[in-house]
Amino acid sequence: MSADEVLGRSTYDFETVPQRRGTDSVKWDVAAGELPMWIADMDFATAPEVIDAMKRKVETGIFGYEWPQEDYFSAVSEWYSKIHGVHIPTEWMIFSTGVVPAISSIVRRASNVGDDVVVLTPVYNIFYNSILNNGRHVREVPLAYDSSLRRYSIDFTTLESALSGATTTLMILCNPQNPTGKVWTRGELSHIASLCSRYGVTLLSDEIHGDLVLGDETGEGPDYTPISTLEPALAAGTISVVSPSKTFNLAALHAATVIVPEEHLRALVNRGLNTDEVAEPNLLALPGSIAAYTHGEPWLAALKGQLRRNVAVVRDFLESQLPQVHLVEGESTYLLWLDCADVDLMSRADIAHDSSKLASLIRTSTGLILSDGAQYRGNGKDFLRMNIACPESLVREGLARLKKAFVQ
Ligand SMILES: Cc1ncc(COP(=O)(O)O)c(C=O)c1O
Repeated sequence: MSADEVLGRSTYDFETVPQRRGTDSVKWDVAAGELPMWIADMDFATAPEVIDAMKRKVETGIFGYEWPQEDYFSAVSEWYSKIHGVHIPTEWMIFSTGVVPAISSIVRRASNVGDDVVVLTPVYNIFYNSILNNGRHVREVPLAYDSSLRRYSIDFTTLESALSGATTTLMILCNPQNPTGKVWTRGELSHIASLCSRYGVTLLSDEIHGDLVLGDETGEGPDYTPISTLEPALAAGTISVVSPSKTFNLAALHAATVIVPEEHLRALVNRGLNTDEVAEPNLLALPGSIAAYTHGEPWLAALKGQLRRNVAVVRDFLESQLPQVHLVEGESTYLLWLDCADVDLMSRADIAHDSSKLASLIRTSTGLILSDGAQYRGNGKDFLRMNIACPESLVREGLARLKKAFVQ
């Protein structure tokens, strides 16, 4: 990789602030003057090769029913070997219209109404919807948090106790973890999978953030481990879901791949996805995904350079100008997890360490929109989540507003 690629200095434009108001954007459907740094999409145009592939598709003018062919699954498999150095056979893969639709469908197939579904918290809040809306119970296993090192770890004793419950049939893991940015090691994943195997619990791994491991300032460091690449006896009880949607800012493409190594479990999942009608692509899903996976590597390298720079901007700003707020150093995602337990405002009677109230106050006083940590459960009520996948000028603007809200 060249020095420019490491730094993200490239032909790609990560500086111009896009005009997204009035474009049906969920993120930017906010009042004039407000600055949204919440929902997980990026204020960057996707890779030019993806746009070209979509244009070519639209120009055909024929948009009949489609079904993914070998070129789609090969593109996914080759991406995993090129980017992550692992082999994932195409026979293990099933197309789905998104990660959350696949998760909800798998909840319905791999567990029963009334069962317990284990999650390590704080975690992506939509997991709770997939569990609760289908009549299952959330069995929370809080991650242990070391507030001096600002590091999360798994309490395996509590996890084992939850997995061994008579009504526990499924665990949903976020690998890497949103919102903490934690990248689970192969050792941790093997430990989780072996406990799941011992207690007959299916392990569902959401790997949507897997391509966004940022590494150190030069991009070096351990990669994430796809759970399907654990030793075969452990991988057999797992299902994982991957997608180019976070990696390439393609959330509205509605495309994901479900990976199931063991054939009986795969047949069960396949039937569920088809019964739930979440297995057929829209007109852009296949060409968009194939182009991203086949040609998107240089763009992703440049993006990661920009994200590393943005993280450094936040780190420096907090240390020098807002030391009440502590950055939890995650290793992945563009979602920064801010420990606000020491913020003066948190001890005000009307806030009382409730980050949803804190986030509302920040929004009303400065227009900055952050995600409140409480919705992710666990110890999230002391945290805010900040999306820094935007031009550096917006990151700086967001930080200035945060300081304005906190330092009065
Ligand atoms: C962990 C995680 N899973 C899934 C999603 C959404 O996936 P999809 O849009 O494919 O349903 C998100 C979006 O933020 C996420 O963070």
